[in-house]
Parts: sequence; C-alpha cells; structure tokens
Amino acid sequence: MGRPAHLYFRILCMHLPHIDFGQTGLNLPRIGLGLAALGRPGYINLGHAEDLAYDYVVEAMERRTHRMLDLAYELGIRYFDVARSYGRAESFLRSWLFNNGHHPEDITIGSKWGYTYTADWKVETDFHEIKDHSLEVLQKQWEESKLLMPFLRLYQIHSATLESGVLDNKEVLAHLGELKQKGIKIGLSVSGVDQPRIVELAMMIRVDGVHLFDSIQATYNILDQSMDKVLEAAAESGMGIIIKEALANGRLTNRNQKADFQKNKQVLDQIAQKYEAGIDAIALAFVLARPWAHVVLSGAAVENHLRSNISAASILLNSEELNLLEDMKMKPEAYWEERSGLKWN
Ligand SMILES: NC(=O)c1ccc[n+]([C@@H]2O[C@H](COP(=O)([O-])OP(=O)(O)OC[C@H]3O[C@@H](n4cnc5c(N)ncnc54)[C@H](OP(=O)(O)O)[C@@H]3O)[C@@H](O)[C@H]2O)c1
Repeated sequence: MGRPAHLYFRILCMHLPHIDFGQTGLNLPRIGLGLAALGRPGYINLGHAEDLAYDYVVEAMERRTHRMLDLAYELGIRYFDVARSYGRAESFLRSWLFNNGHHPEDITIGSKWGYTYTADWKVETDFHEIKDHSLEVLQKQWEESKLLMPFLRLYQIHSATLESGVLDNKEVLAHLGELKQKGIKIGLSVSGVDQPRIVELAMMIRVDGVHLFDSIQATYNILDQSMDKVLEAAAESGMGIIIKEALANGRLTNRNQKADFQKNKQVLDQIAQKYEAGIDAIALAFVLARPWAHVVLSGAAVENHLRSNISAASILLNSEELNLLEDMKMKPEAYWEERSGLKWN
C-alpha cells in the first residue's frame, strides 16, 4: 500500500467533508449512520413499518441492514452508531464488518449501554426497552458489545438522565474510567428537556483527575435548538459532538402531514427547490452549518432516504435562510412532549 493506511482510506471517501472529533484523535466524515431503525421490528420514526415493508424475518432485516451499510460506505460514511437496545443491530453490523473484510482503521463504531431490548422482536408490546444504568448492566453489556472490537472505539451511556443517577454513581464512573485507560473513548447520549443541564454536569466529571467524557450525543434540529450554547461550549472544551434526531424522527421530512407544520413546510420547500434537494437535506444542512456539530447522524432505513440525506453535505445555507429556519424552533417542552406521543410502529 505504501501510503499510511488512514490516508489510503481517506481517499476512498473524499466526497464527504471530514472533521476532528473533538480532541479524541478521531477524524471522521461529518455524516454518520445510526441503526436505531434497522436493528429491530419496532421504532418510533414516522413510517417505520412501511420502511421495513412489514418484513420482520431476521435474515431479511439483516440483508436490508447490509444493503444500507454497503450504500453508506459507498457514500463515504465511516461512523456507525448502535446500541444494545437496538435489537440485533450490533450483530447485523458485526457480520457486515467481518464478512466484507473491512479494516478497523477505516471504520469507527460507537455503541451505547444502559437500555436493554425487551420487545422480543415484536412491534406491539408494553416495553420495547428498559433503562438501568447500574454497574451490573454496564459489565454485562460491555461483554456483549466488545464483540465489535477493534472497530468499537466509542462507548456511550445511553440516554443519561438526572433521574437515572448514573452521573453520581462512583462505581460506574470508575469502571468507565478503566475502559478509557484501555483506549476506549467514553461518551454519553442525552435526551429530554434536561439535555443542557445533564451535559453541563457531565463536562465537570473527572476520574483520577482526568475528564471522563470524550463525547456527547444529543438531539439538535430545527425544531429543538435548545442545545446550541452548551454543545458549542462542550466542543470548545475538546469534546466530540454527535447529533441525533436531526430530522426529529421524521417530523422534518415530507412525511409530516400535521396541519401545524405546513407553514414551516412551505418555507422548507422553497429553500429545498433552490438547492434541488429534499427538505430532509435542508434540515440536515441546518445542523451541519454548526461547526460544533462534528458528526450528524442519518437515521435512514431506506436507500433513497440515505442518498437524499447525504446531499446535505454539499448545501451551504446563507444567513437569511438560516434565520428563517431558526425562527421555526419550538419550546423544548413542546418538542419533547410531541416526541413522546410518537407511536412505536
Ligand atoms: N438516546 C439516544 O442515544 C438516541 C435516540 C434517538 C436516536 N439516536 C441515534 O440517532 C440516529 C438517528 O436518529 P433517528 O433515526 O431517531 O431520527 P431522525 O434521524 O431524526 O429521523 C429519521 C427518520 O426520518 C426519515 N427520513 C429520512 N430521510 C427522509 C426522506 N428523504 N424522506 C422521508 N423520510 C425521511 C427516516 O425514514 P426512513 O426510516 O424511511 O429512512 C426516519 O423515519 C439513530 O439511528 C440512533 O443511532 C440515539
């Protein structure tokens, strides 16, 4: 090969802009793929059941996931986001990585612990996942997720909240500190109206005098912009930032037929026409316009949606367009209440 391995792989995905993922030493393309909608029959995204064509045969869902991963790789994506609670997402990803001889220097996996998948491969069930941020769950789920090594470089607490008490759990923090010493980057994902407060607390946590958390994964999009300031500060402090739900679980796509969204949709359509793109790409370009939004996740489960999402990387919105989109923000309380009403399908 002659050239350093990472340079060789850089050339393969030239068409997606790269960025330093905070001070983690990782340099990643700015769009990643999340597998929340691909690894299990049920999820909250609008139109999820149609996406899967109601075909929940494990082998069929694995083939679908592999097709999406092949396309994502072809389009330049090199960061893939999973979690123990995403059903079989980790095993689908693992078979794709090892069956295709992918190279650990080329692909970065981030997984999450703390939610356990309890839906038993069903769409209709009382509990799809159960949250428990205890040391026992961390140790058990690490043993499961570490099968993705050496591609697994980032290990995140799944939806850390004040209520779960995980940020005050000395045993858990110490165990994460040990994983960090072994070279694993440690992160957390956050959800809900308390996202800003949780991130502020996490930024202050040290284990053996060293900042524990290397990265934050947070919800940020046109409808919920409440994380603006705290994520900018976290990035300035050297943390890597991953944005999830950049399309508000499909509410910032053509699928949103709600009456109170149509006025916003008209504005999004006008901007989209100018760039000959979908409104999803405009919504993603809005997030990519934030220099601290290092990696923005696509949650697509069908190929043409992923292609459309990727086109956001070549859209540079002007200040007038950014202002128009900023004016669409909701109150975080209203945003999360609406989200909690989304049906598992
Ligand atoms: N607490 C956490 O840590 C947490 C929570 C949520 C998400 N995440 C991560 O973030 C990733 C992305 O988030 P997300 O999937 O929840 O939400 P999202 O990215 O906000 O929304 C994805 C939804 O938008 C739809 N979509 C995308 N492009 C479209 C298009 N061109 N036209 C119509 N519909 C389109 C997708 O439909 P299709 O499925 O049909 O493509 C999917 O239903 C997840 O996969 C996961 O990795 C983490």
